[in-house]
Amino acid sequence: MNILNLGGGGFIGSHLTKRLLDEGHSVTVVDLWTDKVEEFLDHPRLTFVQQDIRSPQFHIDPFVEAADLVIDLIAYANPGLYLRIPIEVFRLNFQENLKIAEACVHHKKRLIQFSTCEVYGRTAATLKHARLADPEDPIHATFSEDESEFILGPVNRHRWIYACSKQLLERVLHAYGLEAGFNYTIVRPFNFIGPKIDFLQSEQEGIPRVFSFFMDALINGTTMKLVDGGEQRRCYTYIDDAIEGTYAIVENPGGVCDRQIFNLGSPYNEISIRQLAETMREIYAEQFRDPAIPLPNIVSVPGETFYGKGYDDSNRRIPDITKARTLLGWEPVWPVRKMLEATMSYYVHEYPRTKPVAVAY
Ligand code: NAD
Ligand code: UGA
Repeated sequence: MNILNLGGGGFIGSHLTKRLLDEGHSVTVVDLWTDKVEEFLDHPRLTFVQQDIRSPQFHIDPFVEAADLVIDLIAYANPGLYLRIPIEVFRLNFQENLKIAEACVHHKKRLIQFSTCEVYGRTAATLKHARLADPEDPIHATFSEDESEFILGPVNRHRWIYACSKQLLERVLHAYGLEAGFNYTIVRPFNFIGPKIDFLQSEQEGIPRVFSFFMDALINGTTMKLVDGGEQRRCYTYIDDAIEGTYAIVENPGGVCDRQIFNLGSPYNEISIRQLAETMREIYAEQFRDPAIPLPNIVSVPGETFYGKGYDDSNRRIPDITKARTLLGWEPVWPVRKMLEATMSYYVHEYPRTKPVAVAY
């Protein structure tokens, strides 16, 4: 197939671009940056278009028209940005993505749209007057694509503009499916982790995701900070598992993914952020430590101090993957410790420390 991979130079995108090329597809990537796909830029079946899709000179139409399948990964995807530039988050993650979706509707092209597990928001256990017999029962935190309610915070907690923009986009795709027969598949990733996830925070301006903050602290012997005590939990999913699931969606056997939403995440890998910090510190001490650099302390900091006013958080989110398991035969296999070892090894041994500074946001 000719596949248009928008955002194919990012974390998920670069791994997916590699897989698509390995499977024999022709791939056109549109992205701001080349650094994560540097090693296959001269691949004969890859066309890399270095481009800001917001530019008035850029027109998505011819790219969509030429593609058999469109995959859209472009978004601001780091929580620090939802606090700093919420309007830009809405513009890129909803308005610009909508233009891509509407081009797909117009040209009758199938679209795989990356959304987020953040659309589920928080668990019912966090509601002020919740009276749950057992608030710790995972059933209250297990989200399924077509059944779960969404619980987002108030407007002044503007972290949720990201989840809200993604949710609105999902609703518009659904509506185009109903009214125009549009063929889309929505992916809701649950905290993917792996090589190339983000930049190291001390080397580049910006706010990466938690793995990179912790990795940076380990390499430089600075403090590992737990936002609001680190009791919030995530289900980490290794990028290789994620790409297996995504590729099954690309293949779409018998049209099983048509107008469907899929959680992609590992329900077996739930871990609190405190446990994540402790496990990373333990692995680092065992396998990677430079004896000249002290192991970091782990301290708690208030969310609004760390990220700024308007911060809020998902407390817990576990994917129900029955649908991916049943329709795609997908099952994540990487446990947390092994994925952390593999990802940490990349940042210790392979991460290009003299990376060009490429900051657009
Ligand atoms: P990422 O930031 O690495 O990838 C996004 C890519 O989009 C980047 O390469 C970036 O350069 C590109 N991009 C941003 N603005 C652009 C613009 N104006 N023009 C052209 N390209 C632009 O993030 P990721 O982790 O790979 O996430 C990919 C998608 O998956 C996003 O939609 C994100 O919201 C979603 N998602 C990811 C995760 C995860 O676990 N990584 C979880 C939930 C949702
Ligand atoms: C992020 C983004 O919202 C989305 O890209 C995506 O939906 C999601 O990741 C995902 O990867 O699935 P979040 O899980 O909050 O959401 O991302 P992180 O920035 O990695 O934060 C995870 C947790 O660690 C948060 O509770 C945060 O407060 C905490 N944190 C972060 C720390 O305790 N210390 C830090 O130094 C950084």
